[in-house]
Amino acid sequence: MIKILIVFGTRPEAIKMAPLVKEFQKHTDRFDVKVCVTAQHRQMLDQVLDFFDIIPDYDLNLMRPGQNLSQLTADVILGLKTVFEQFTPFYTFVHGDTTTSTAAALASFYAGVKVCHVEAGLRTYNKLSPFPEEMNRQLTGRLADIHFAPTYQSKENLLSEGTLENSVFVTGNTVIDALLYAKDKVELINDSQINFLKSIIDNSKDLVLVTGHRRENFGDGFINICKALKQLAAERNVQIIYPVHLNPNVIDPVHSILKDTESIHLIEPLAYPAFVWLMKKAKIIITDSGGVQEEAPSLGKPVLVMRDTTERPEAVEAGTVKLVGTNIDKILFEAKYLLDNPKEYQRMSLVHNPYGDGSTCAKIIECIQ
Ligand code: UD1
Ligand code: UDP
Repeated sequence: MIKILIVFGTRPEAIKMAPLVKEFQKHTDRFDVKVCVTAQHRQMLDQVLDFFDIIPDYDLNLMRPGQNLSQLTADVILGLKTVFEQFTPFYTFVHGDTTTSTAAALASFYAGVKVCHVEAGLRTYNKLSPFPEEMNRQLTGRLADIHFAPTYQSKENLLSEGTLENSVFVTGNTVIDALLYAKDKVELINDSQINFLKSIIDNSKDLVLVTGHRRENFGDGFINICKALKQLAAERNVQIIYPVHLNPNVIDPVHSILKDTESIHLIEPLAYPAFVWLMKKAKIIITDSGGVQEEAPSLGKPVLVMRDTTERPEAVEAGTVKLVGTNIDKILFEAKYLLDNPKEYQRMSLVHNPYGDGSTCAKIIECIQ
């Protein structure tokens, strides 16, 4: 039996690790797998655990309103120390670029536990963008013993940094496993959030789906984003649905600028099935999310990314994703260009699968075996 601890804490990590937990549960003859959530996110994490029907073995319950990175990092390291004393895994699995991932990788290293990094090797090589995620991912990469890179490009990044070739496996991204699990299911289930969305959607308008949460956009970035959305709603026949991230640095400007604006619906974060349903319904998506950039090519949905850099160049190369930054005029120009030009829309809305075919989790387990 190989003892494995899977650690995650935020919404995107949960969405991307849930299918791996499910896949490991098919192999209980070989693996003793336990799940530890740091609960860096609380409500947004629990929405995912509910949908995938995962009950964590350990819940550090760390989220605090308006939390800071230093305290959270310290809490994750200390919390995991106790978990390692109880469970003594051989491998820890961590995901991506959050505080949870990096602190969990460091805690594992201190405890002599080998680290497997899922979604390894993505890079912008700009320390401040995304902040702190680029550095988190690089640090986790240095601490990791086994790297599951989603694409050959991410493998190349790792090799160029001196990572041993036989420790890197190209597997695709588990987000596609999650998406394929949810994509058809959402058409069949009776879900209260989907029913609510059906009740507000105006089919005579183009549906624009918006999300945003990046730290480097706090302040002026979010003010610009909101102003651009307000102008778009005034100038085009669109309905904007914006599930607002629970970070107070996001909620405050978004509500103060966009509240009560005609054709703009500010709603609470959606659970994964309702969000997937809404992505399928949307004409275009405007976001700064990493995960949405990976999901959109598989759904054939054009995405305007409100960032200056991306560690997901494959989606840009596939043609589905365009970087527009947080300049009001640029966001507005690109959104209107896409809505007004059927040819450009067609070009960006072709379905591509740069991030895999839904077999990533099975591949990861094959590598570990
Ligand atoms: C975190 C990750 C980011 C990831 C994002 C996904 C870090 C440094 N940041 O950023 O990489 O892209 O999650 O969404 O790891 N909050 C709630 N309820 C929730 C979740 C958040 O109230 O369920 C509020 C709390 O006030 C919390 C704050 O949001 O303190 C910030 O949460 P935090 O995880 O520190 O940062 P995110 O911006 O969510
Ligand atoms: N998502 C969700 N509900 C929402 C918004 C996003 O379930 O209201 C999902 C989305 O499909 C994607 C993930 O959350 O899989 C992205 O999370 P987020 O943008 O918070 O983080 P990032 O991917 O940027 O790290």
